Amino acid sequence: MKGEVVVAAPAKINLCLGVGPVRGDGYHPLATVYQAIGLYDEITVRPAGEQSLTVVGEDVDVSGVPTDETNLALRAASALALRHGIDDGVEMLIRKRIPVAGGLAGGSADAAGALVACDALWGTDTPREELLEIAAGLGSDVPFCVVGGTALGSGRGELVSPAMTRGRYWWVLALTDDGLSTPTVYGEFDRMHAQAPAPEPEVPNELMAALRSGDIELLGKALTNDLQPAAFGLRPELEDLVAAGLRGSAHGALVSGSGPTCLFLTESESHAVEVRNSLVGSVPKVLHAPGPVPGARVIR
Ligand code: C5P
Repeated sequence: MKGEVVVAAPAKINLCLGVGPVRGDGYHPLATVYQAIGLYDEITVRPAGEQSLTVVGEDVDVSGVPTDETNLALRAASALALRHGIDDGVEMLIRKRIPVAGGLAGGSADAAGALVACDALWGTDTPREELLEIAAGLGSDVPFCVVGGTALGSGRGELVSPAMTRGRYWWVLALTDDGLSTPTVYGEFDRMHAQAPAPEPEVPNELMAALRSGDIELLGKALTNDLQPAAFGLRPELEDLVAAGLRGSAHGALVSGSGPTCLFLTESESHAVEVRNSLVGSVPKVLHAPGPVPGARVIR
């Protein structure tokens, strides 16, 4: 067994997020294209008798993150231990840079990171398929956070297949102070579709064509998110932010996942910095990050 393993786990965004009518199990069928971006939480695990967790925010408010056994990353460690009949605990440290409840799958990234970290710590060498199955049991976005890159997501988001894409993009992220809870946004989506049920979701052909060719103009126009009207309903100021982004030099703008983070598509780091500078003062915090990047991986 190793003494310590450190994993970097990236945030995710959705380039399209098609959402269908709520299923009998309370989840919504999705047709999405995920992309992992270069904004990372760092998960460190060490052998220990008991399970323990410390969460440190790096310019992120972590006061809402549980550190008991309800934390998804600790549940990930327990699920992997159970699968392999391992009795050992882990001492886990999460350095959070991905905003909490921001629509960037920060909690899912931590769970994916914990799976990859514990698998390396214990030398269990879990086959990829099995790791993804455990990941799917933890949350809809967790399998993608293991896989990374750019990938199609279906089912409730947990069924992931890598997508053929070209191009590297830079995303500007406009962050707000108050997160949005994912179930609340889906609830608002259901309320908005109470009279006219949403159709079965599909990934737009234009989006896949844009990703295959690496054409940033087409990509910008093809970005969609069915949860965006619900996020606007709950946070009206986001609508102005996206509209301002579309009027500016960004190639596209939309709400990330269930929000409230808003995304702006740019073609280079210098373009990202230009868009970022144009947003300073109108939102509490702005970041930029490249995409796609690989999924959760051991860095030490
Ligand atoms: O799968 P996960 O635990 O991350 O989902 C959190 C919540 O988000 C679910 O309890 C559900 O309310 C909502 N959700 C949904 N449909 C999905 C994914 C998530 O309604 N496809």
